[in-house]
This record gives sequence, C-alpha cells and structure tokens, in this order.
Amino acid sequence: MANTILVGAQWGDEGKGKIIDFLTEQADVVVRSQGGNNAGHTVIVGGTKYVLHLIPSGILRPGKVCVIGNGVVVDPVAVAAEIDGLEKQGIAVSRQNLIISDCAHLVLPYHRVIDEQRELKKGKNKIGTTKRGIGPAYGDKAARVGLRMSDLAQPELFTEKLAARIEENNVVLSAFGAEPLKFEEVRDAYLAAGKKLAPFIENTVVYLHEALKAGREILFEGAQGTFLDIDHGTYPYVTSSNTTAGGACTGSGVPPHRMDRVLGVMKAYTTRVGEGPFPTENDEISNMLHDMGREFGATTGRARRCGWFDAVATRYAGMVNGIDELAITNMDGLDTLATIRICTHYRLDGNLLDVPPSDLGQLTRCEPVYEEMPGWQTPTHEARNWKDLPANARSYLERLAELTDARLAIVSVGPNREQTIVL
Ligand code: GDP
Ligand code: IMO
Ligand code: MG
Repeated sequence: MANTILVGAQWGDEGKGKIIDFLTEQADVVVRSQGGNNAGHTVIVGGTKYVLHLIPSGILRPGKVCVIGNGVVVDPVAVAAEIDGLEKQGIAVSRQNLIISDCAHLVLPYHRVIDEQRELKKGKNKIGTTKRGIGPAYGDKAARVGLRMSDLAQPELFTEKLAARIEENNVVLSAFGAEPLKFEEVRDAYLAAGKKLAPFIENTVVYLHEALKAGREILFEGAQGTFLDIDHGTYPYVTSSNTTAGGACTGSGVPPHRMDRVLGVMKAYTTRVGEGPFPTENDEISNMLHDMGREFGATTGRARRCGWFDAVATRYAGMVNGIDELAITNMDGLDTLATIRICTHYRLDGNLLDVPPSDLGQLTRCEPVYEEMPGWQTPTHEARNWKDLPANARSYLERLAELTDARLAIVSVGPNREQTIVL
C-alpha cells in the first residue's frame, strides 16, 4: 500500500474507523495527526465492538505501529483510560505498538470546563461540541500558552507550569461563574497518567522519517470530516483542527511529497452531529435510520442528524483534499428505499451553485436541488464483490463517484471487517 491520507469527506462519522481497520492490514504504521478524544471511531472485529477515541484504529491489528502525532491534542487521563479499556478487551498496548509525540499538546481540565461554559453562554447558538475541551486546547496552542507531552514527562517542570496555568484559568472560570479547579487534584491525576504514558513519549517525526527510509508504508488516519475543518468547514460550526488532507502533513511532520494518495471516506447518505447548517437534512431519513438503531454518536451518544447524499459538499471535499479514491460506507442503510435522492446543486436567490458558499448565512439559505434514482430494495449486507450488488445499487455508487470526481475504490455494506467490497 502506498502512503495514504484517509480523510472524512462529510461532517465526520463517515465510517473512517472501519475503513482504517480494513486498510491497516496492508500498512506498517498508522498515524493520527489532528483532533483529540472528540473523535469516536467504531470498529467491529469478530463480533467484538471497539470504540477508539485517541488511539489510532490500527491498534487492533497485531504487528502494526500506531502513532499519535504532534498535531493531536491529548487528554492524558483519557488516553490512559483508553489503553486500560483496550487491554480489558484483550488488545495489548505497549511501546511496541503505540508512540505518542512529545510535541502533542495536552487537554487540561480547564479546557473542558471552558468548552462547556462557552456552550452554555451561547445558548441556542451553541456549536454542539463534544465538551472534550478541544477548542480551548487548540486555542492555548495557538496562543502559545499550551502544555505539551514533553512537559508532562518532566514532573517538576509540569508542576510548575500547571500551577501558573491553573492560576490564570481559575480567574477565567470564576468569570464564567464556574467552580475553580483544585491544583493538587489536577496535578496528581495528570502526573499519574504521565507516569503511565512516559514510555510511549518520543519524537514521532524522527520515528516516521526512519520508517519512511526503511520503506515502511504509512496510513494517515483522519478524524472528524472536511466540513468540520477549522479553515474549510462550516465555520463557526466546526472543530478546531485541520481535518483535511494538509493536516496529515503538519500534524505528523511527514512532508507532502511523501504522500502517495488521498482516500476520501463518505457515507452513501449524509450525517452531522451537533449544530450548524446541513442543506440536505431530512426527517424521514433520520427517523428511518434511527428506527434501525443506527446513527447514534460514538463519543457522546447523541442522535446524528441525517439526510440525502450531498454531492455539492463532496465535490468540494474532493477539491480541498485532492481525493483520488473513494470509500463509500453504509450502503446497506438505503436498502429499503424505493427512490433515492442526490443533491447535485444548491439554489440560492434563484442561482444554481455547484460549490457550497463560504458565508454561513448564505449556506443556511441554500436549498438543495435533487436528482432521483431508483432504489434497489434488496439487502446488500451479504455482498462481497461488485457483481453481488444489485444493478441499481451499482448505478447509484457510480453516480456518487462521478459527481464527486474521484475513483470508487471501496464499498462497505456493514460494520464488520468482512463486509467490504474492494474494486
Ligand atoms: P468514524 O468516526 O468515521 O470512524 O465513524 P463512526 O464509527 O463514528 O460511525 C460510523 C458508524 O457506522 C459506526 O457505527 C460503524 O460501525 C458503522 N459502519 C461503518 N460502515 C458501515 C456500513 O457499511 N454499514 C453499516 N451498517 N454500518 C457501518
Ligand atoms: P469522528 O472522528 C462527528 C463535531 C461536534 C461539534 C463540532 C465541534 O468520529 O468523525 P468539538 O468537540 O470538536 O469542539 O466539536 O464538531 N465533531 C464531530 N462530529 N464526528 C467527529 O469525529 C466529531 N468530532 C467533533 O459534534 O459539532
Ligand atoms: Mg465517529
């Protein structure tokens, strides 16, 4: 497998975890480059369900090395708990299969409280964040007042820096009317997590360049999706990192010319969790999928908003990420429909648009323009080859690829590893 950047082509939860697990078979190293434990990647292997938040989904395959890169924001207490949870599920995690960048920034308890308080203050204008402290942690990184994994690895230095940060942030918390943090409690919890994580911390840039020199193949695991990107998404209803392909370079220290291909993962329909514009949102599709027990968030358990496939959005995602190949998941979710709609354009003030407007107000006013295709009304979950799919399902997939302007490479017809069709 070539060095591959895998990105979400919609608003996150495209089924990246499942596809990453599938592709990891051919990779040597799997890297997370951005985001934090706002991500929730579900992988089902041999009937066992694993939900990964910070640890790359590659961890489930023995012999592969997972890297948490410099661009990730790490809650060390959460990552330590995630390691424990995986071990309870029989997955061994050690320095042999996990490395954490010494430059990765820390998510601290004041980030979580500020995230929560800002959302409360915004009231009905809230972003609908995961309340994991992601925005404030990246804010501190940009403001150059963040603490990093390398600080955590030096208890005395960490204690000194933490004291100053808590002093400043307690002033902020009291302005919000929130309880101040107790320095000793935070210090003890973080130092305990730091002790557990110390063996994993190193310069991952050097590790990755050595891996490249040795000809090892790297899979860059995206988190969130294109329209949650801080620059290219539906701002301010976005997350705080670059979720698009460029983020894989800056968040890992692997330069652009070492990347061989970009794989865009998207559902056969569209979902979004949290607030913000969503032109093709549709109650009937939402109810249908929720009644099937599907589309509940892997991190917060919130019901995801669902709608028709939005080709205006995925075409733009193709541009921004340079998507060469597509993995389309959750095909089986549309199995029962007689007619399926695809949004090919937006209508705004009488004009037809084929790219989404950047302005939030304009995007909110856009109306989807649909074309219709006949459904296949046949279960697809047992299909293992392209020819096993009903003709109408194949036509639908071909149309999605044509509208997105990329080559169809993988189709997923169920959450399990084996429910995957490679073209
Ligand atoms: P991620 O964040 O992009 O990794 O996606 P999530 O794991 O949050 O959400 C995707 C959901 O779809 C998970 O529950 C997966 O188990 C499930 N899933 C992935 N691909 C398929 C598929 O082809 N069919 C079905 N039925 N479920 C799928
Ligand atoms: P994966 O990797 C879907 C959304 C939140 C909210 C916005 C900002 O599983 O695809 P944040 O906590 O990041 O400040 O929240 O982004 N969001 C996601 N939505 N999948 C995710 O990750 C998400 N991570 C964040 O719901 O709208
Ligand atoms: Mg998810």
